Amino acid sequence: LALGGAGLGLSGCQASPDTELHPRSRQFPKDFVWGVASAAFQTEGGQTADGRGPSVWDVFEKKPGVVVDGSDATVATDSYRRYADDIDLIAGAGLGAYRFSISWSRVLPSGGGAINPAGLDHYSRMVDAMLAKGVTPYATLFHWDLPQALQDQGGWKNRDTALRFADYANAVVDRLGDRLKRYIALNEAAVHAVFGHLLGEHAPGLKDSALLGPTVHHMNLAQGLAIQALRASHNDLSVGTTMALQPCRPAGGELAFWNRLASDGLDALWNRAWLDPLFKGTYPKPLLDMLQAGTVKDGDMAAIRQKVDFLGVNYYAPAYVRLDLSSPSKIAPAAPPKGVELDAFGRHIDPSGLFQVLELVRREYGNPPVMITENGCSDPFSKGPAVIQDTFRINYLRRHLEAVLAAREAGSPIGGYFCWTLLDNFEWSLGYTSKFGLVAHDRATGVRTPKASYAWFKALAASGALPV
Ligand code: NOJ
Repeated sequence: LALGGAGLGLSGCQASPDTELHPRSRQFPKDFVWGVASAAFQTEGGQTADGRGPSVWDVFEKKPGVVVDGSDATVATDSYRRYADDIDLIAGAGLGAYRFSISWSRVLPSGGGAINPAGLDHYSRMVDAMLAKGVTPYATLFHWDLPQALQDQGGWKNRDTALRFADYANAVVDRLGDRLKRYIALNEAAVHAVFGHLLGEHAPGLKDSALLGPTVHHMNLAQGLAIQALRASHNDLSVGTTMALQPCRPAGGELAFWNRLASDGLDALWNRAWLDPLFKGTYPKPLLDMLQAGTVKDGDMAAIRQKVDFLGVNYYAPAYVRLDLSSPSKIAPAAPPKGVELDAFGRHIDPSGLFQVLELVRREYGNPPVMITENGCSDPFSKGPAVIQDTFRINYLRRHLEAVLAAREAGSPIGGYFCWTLLDNFEWSLGYTSKFGLVAHDRATGVRTPKASYAWFKALAASGALPV
């Protein structure tokens, strides 16, 4: 999996020949969507403001030792109060879109039951502020912050959570659907399922392999029901969902048979457990083996198989995998090939992996419209002069955008690219140690200072031409 590892060997995000793509053209189309992405919990702060209820991350982040720098997201980038400043930065860079997430616990503080109008008022103001600046809002409905009240009743293990999610989608679209037209049902369900329920590194902090099957299924079901609810409410929406796609590569190469078994196993859980149900209405075999009789009810697969207006693809790195007979899953992370560079998060940098997942979607899943809903890196050089010279990030973005151009040339209808992220923010269990922003955020003063990459991305959005 992509987490972990120390930031070693940082030399400025240099290309290595077998990771690069060479598109024929460097020009993006005029209507290509340029944006940035963020998430409520990582940016908002204001955890008790205006009647918000606690989410699983509010509870998890306070447990000793789970966040590496001992920090929490009670203030984060203060974007609950300062969203207008964020939107000014987005509009100031000439970006046409902002992908943000709505906090379920603001809308329904107990997960279900009574709607909290003040929570919806906030997002209504935010949407209006974006529209006033010519920025199109893309709202993610679930970015890992399940209301704690639902977790207390079993969380995603409980089928009822899927039904509550559809109620929540309904509440959002009822209030905002006249102006908010673009929706992303789930963000990276694989990360929430695996890191939150098997590895215990994310909220809700559980380590129980028996949870995986029901969690995967109920998240897929939630997504299907929410998409239906959105569509039933308004007929002019653009509705998608976002997956963390990672090519799973066997250590030692494709001929390393035993490691190949492990990488196929991870591929089934990480990628196909989500792609197959949405696009084919089935589960891959290893997933079926994890689902107890009775979990999948009649009609569920039809509810999950939905036509989406776009698939959101988040890409950071490939996963290298080896067989490990001593681990319950038999799957263990492996070191990437020698010479592969890491970002400060510890993810190895490989634009060919982005091309590979886009080709997977094109060839095996019916070539749906795609939006790159996240891509970015943690920059090792995020301290320094007044304007941080994050050339590492600029090179990273340029090289991954070459992969996007190459995938478009191969026939993938990719309509937009959202950089993760606008501001350095709360990077989950890594606290504030990982800096993914185009803009630095000083936590002591709240001051937001654009980095060199902000100007670079602005120039790109203006011209649509990717510099060499
Ligand atoms: C994916 C997640 O959606 C986001 O929350 C996270 O901050 C980025 N990856 C960077 O690791």
